[in-house]
Amino acid sequence: MPDSASPRRILPLISHPGGRSRATCRFRCGDACFHEAPNTSENTYFGDIFSGVLSRRNALRAGAVGAGVSAVGVSGAFTPALADSWWHGKKGHGRGRSPRLRFHSVDANTDDAVTVPKHYDHRVVVRWGDPVTPDAPDFDFENQTAEAQEKQFGYNCDYVAFTEMGNRRGLLWVNHEYTNETLMFPGYTDGNEADLEQIKIAMAAHGGSIVELRRIWNSGAWRLVTWGWRYFNRRITVNTPMELSGPAAGDALLRTEADPDGVEVRGMLNNCAGGMTPWGTILTCEENFHQYFVGGEGAPEDAKPALSRYGVPTSGDTRSGNRRFDRVDERFDLSKHPNEANRFGYVVEVDPFNPHSKPRKRTMLGRFKHEGANVRLAKDRRVVVYMGDDERFDYIYKFVSDKKMRWGSRRTNEGLLDSGTLYVAKLTGNSPAEEFDGSGALPADGEFDGSGVWIPLCSDKESFVDGFTVAEVLVHTRLAADAVGATKMDRPEDMEASPVTGKVYCALTNNTARSPEQADEANPRANNKFGHILEIVEEGNDAAATDFGWSVPIVCGNPDDPSTYFAGYDKDKVVAISCPDNLTFDGDGNLWISTDGQPGTLDSNDALHAVPVEGKHRGEIKTFATVPQGAECCGPFITEDQKTVFIAPQHPGDGGSLDNPQSTWPDGKYYPRPSVVSIWHTRGRDVGHA
Ligand code: FEO
Ligand code: CA
Ligand code: CA
Repeated sequence: MPDSASPRRILPLISHPGGRSRATCRFRCGDACFHEAPNTSENTYFGDIFSGVLSRRNALRAGAVGAGVSAVGVSGAFTPALADSWWHGKKGHGRGRSPRLRFHSVDANTDDAVTVPKHYDHRVVVRWGDPVTPDAPDFDFENQTAEAQEKQFGYNCDYVAFTEMGNRRGLLWVNHEYTNETLMFPGYTDGNEADLEQIKIAMAAHGGSIVELRRIWNSGAWRLVTWGWRYFNRRITVNTPMELSGPAAGDALLRTEADPDGVEVRGMLNNCAGGMTPWGTILTCEENFHQYFVGGEGAPEDAKPALSRYGVPTSGDTRSGNRRFDRVDERFDLSKHPNEANRFGYVVEVDPFNPHSKPRKRTMLGRFKHEGANVRLAKDRRVVVYMGDDERFDYIYKFVSDKKMRWGSRRTNEGLLDSGTLYVAKLTGNSPAEEFDGSGALPADGEFDGSGVWIPLCSDKESFVDGFTVAEVLVHTRLAADAVGATKMDRPEDMEASPVTGKVYCALTNNTARSPEQADEANPRANNKFGHILEIVEEGNDAAATDFGWSVPIVCGNPDDPSTYFAGYDKDKVVAISCPDNLTFDGDGNLWISTDGQPGTLDSNDALHAVPVEGKHRGEIKTFATVPQGAECCGPFITEDQKTVFIAPQHPGDGGSLDNPQSTWPDGKYYPRPSVVSIWHTRGRDVGHA
């Protein structure tokens, strides 16, 4: 094989209806979209429930504007400005009201490279195989071992979070969502044929990494620290002991032979996006955990409906999967350990500042295919976590704590996510159902919008769903949400609150299975290949509210396509966007949207876009960066000082193979390496400026 091969300027082999490469579908989510959507509940598509809520919706919006500029009573050690921004959204300065983004948009392209705007530069910060722990050996692609991988940076990078620690030092957290064994091991075919060391390497390449970075001079560029003690550096893998915490911990559903008390589980799986808490911990979210389990056909009959609702195969040949972790560790065989799957699918809280801390799976936040988890404080400082369940026709959730956050009180804050109430969203449109035929045409009132309610599923003490205990709600959350009539959405991905306005945004990435009859005002397009963005305004702009207003400001796609919508902005002045996935905000309240699926839907590599969501430029979407061939654009994370954007080009080269590389990024060798990149303005300006 060539040691250095030229990047092939070819488009990936696309066979997925949502626009990903065939390999991404196979390894990332176990071909979830090639199967029937697991939500077979009879929940209505709300389009047929017309309710006149216009006046109420307008009242909510007026309330939001009023609350958005009012003083906020958050006390404590934090500076008022920062505390205020947590109340409104997450971290951020809240310095403006979405000024125009002035950078020069990057053209759509299929280059095997990271491309950034004029006057910006970028640098690869850390790659798969780079040393994490001080005793990690150098990466040796041809001679990998599981022991080395346990100490080295893991594979596909998704969620990225960063905290500056002073003295030009910073701490980076990265999720390692999944592995693509065909690009990791020459000659790999599948998990049945793989040698056991390869399976162990893949297990060690999952999870997360914490690494120390050093700022390069005074720029927005960062580099990996590869010298010295590196106290915080840590790998978390499929083997790391974790605590099951919250109301479901200890329940019979979570007990196994290895853990008869149901309180400790080893590892986390398929960690996709995540969030940071105001008290400094990381929330990392288990998504497509279903694909790691075999033997579902041999699970007890009464366990099968719940397994199926989560996409775990329960009939036929369940052992022809990609990875066969069960060949190394029997607990992944459900015919022997049927409860093991119940111990995955959670939000995991990690303290990055204590390398000896035990990660906690927070059962109170429910079990589903968690995309991300982002925190906003309620007006009374209770903690609210917004979460999407990334599956076709699945739901949007939020958790509201019953205790209040106390700035600086570790004892109080470390228990906040174990008690409170878990809700699921039900949305109602304000235009007649007959105005939605799946074409994406705007209704007569000119807007996709309406009202919604957060339906309580359970508190830590009480279930609100007939026939479900608290533990059953928290372990079989999808089934509980089915029972209360939650709204079926087009794959809810990341949710983020604006640090300026407090409005909450949800990326609905795509859903090609939605039929014209199933189109509704919140999911207005049938065969939704390109996805859309949902905007939520909580009543009184209080994150703990149980009512909200909503609208769809962006319906993605090529602006030439009449089914697209960019908040009414001139379509001649916007770029194409498809399959929105991860979201973040800059300090001015502009929404940054990364994509996963543009190659198959727009003939362009995936990208990081940015768009103002307030003011006269609302909807003016631009492209800030594009990622290499076959990659999706993960991260993104904008640093507190607004000088750096971190992105994580995940699964570069996924449409190719080691014999026929589609991507040689970043090293120019025949194997691509998923990596994290920092991007900065070469003149030291805040990101977003020209
Ligand atoms: Fe791992 Fe929903 O993306
Ligand atoms: Ca409407
Ligand atoms: Ca994602």
